[in-house]
Amino acid sequence: MSIKLTEEQQMIQSMVRDFAREMIAPTAMQRDLTKEFPAENLRRLGELGLMGMMIPPQYGGAGADTISYVLALSEIAYACASTAVVMSVQNSIVCESILRYGNEDQKQRFLVPLSSGQEIGAFALTEPNAGSDPVRQAAKAVRDGDTYILNGTKRFITTGKNANTIIVTAKTDASMRHKGISAFLVKKDNPGLKVGNLENKMGLCASDTTDLIFEDCRVPVNDRLAEEGQGFTIAMTGLDGGRIGIAAQSVGVAQAAMDAAVTYAKEREQFGQAISKFQGIRWMIADMATEIEAARQLMYSAAAMKDRNENYTKQASMAKLFASEMVNRVTAQALQMHGGYGFTKEYPVERFYRDARVFTIYEGTSEIQRVVISNHILKDKRGP
Ligand code: CAA
Repeated sequence: MSIKLTEEQQMIQSMVRDFAREMIAPTAMQRDLTKEFPAENLRRLGELGLMGMMIPPQYGGAGADTISYVLALSEIAYACASTAVVMSVQNSIVCESILRYGNEDQKQRFLVPLSSGQEIGAFALTEPNAGSDPVRQAAKAVRDGDTYILNGTKRFITTGKNANTIIVTAKTDASMRHKGISAFLVKKDNPGLKVGNLENKMGLCASDTTDLIFEDCRVPVNDRLAEEGQGFTIAMTGLDGGRIGIAAQSVGVAQAAMDAAVTYAKEREQFGQAISKFQGIRWMIADMATEIEAARQLMYSAAAMKDRNENYTKQASMAKLFASEMVNRVTAQALQMHGGYGFTKEYPVERFYRDARVFTIYEGTSEIQRVVISNHILKDKRGP
């Protein structure tokens, strides 16, 4: 068996599992069809302390460890991956970045409403021409007295439309490479911020993904996160935690797909018996279960290293790489086991298959995870 969960971790897992399967799963397919943002789900997650899980109670959070967080996030992803991605971005790359880099005043003004679940956050790093290579971003922040003036377009921003607070990065010094990038906390009602194009996606349909357009957007100097030039480090550190979250989403969706496939295989009869009696199906089930377990262990090990305050960058990338590739194989197999029914919206497996597709792309593609892992092993970086 794997790591031994503490009593508290088991309680959190079982509480979130019951909640997710009773309250979130039954309407997930409907939300996928209507693309309705899961506002009510998120409000309830906030009430349960799941929107700032790893944030200390003094800043509105639940003070839980990362293992508890991945257990909870996997359970939410099992029920609805669109809800899970909002929870994931909120907990790690938004809340933890403010906890790690914000000053006391920023924690009170921005972090408390986020981690207590009253507000939702987004992280705006990616641009139309800067995805895997965020150092080449074009957004600029020019200092003007007590404010910065931000101009630029951010793309593929998870919860860009529905978030209340956005952490945005921009160049404060174009002559410097990554050290010329700074991060800012921007409220959605800032008149210089517009929500642009809403992406029409193949999966995670109930979570909005948008452009965010900054046009002479004035941000007080007091709302700069950390010092000038620290924006890239803030993003990279946040993404380390975020990538463990993508592993957790992958494990949750894969488990849901496998459970659905096993149920179907026991019920579906062909050639006079349940298809679960056939070796071809049994081997698929065995492979799926083994792959999910391997991903779960990588997820646990990255989370445990983070909880021990060790450098976990490589382990987070390994967990994200393996788990996101795994869920694409597992959901494809689960769909195959459903035969023609798997291709219809009568069964949830086609949604799992579509939702999982982006996991090898967002928060760093599989190719970028391999760059990070090999850089750490070789320690003589050749560049991406
Ligand atoms: N933690 C802390 N610091 C880090 C770091 C980490 N994990 N990784 C790099 N750094 C530091 C380096 O130490 C270096 O600092 P110094 O010069 O002071 O030593 C600095 O950052 C620059 O590092 P590199 O030269 O290695 O940077 P690079 O330009 O070669 O890029 C990269 C490295 C790994 C490819 C990085 O660009 C990367 O991760 N790219 C992918 C971006 C990404 O994941 N985007 C996802 C968008 S967000 C999203 O999807 C959220 C959502 O809405 C769901």
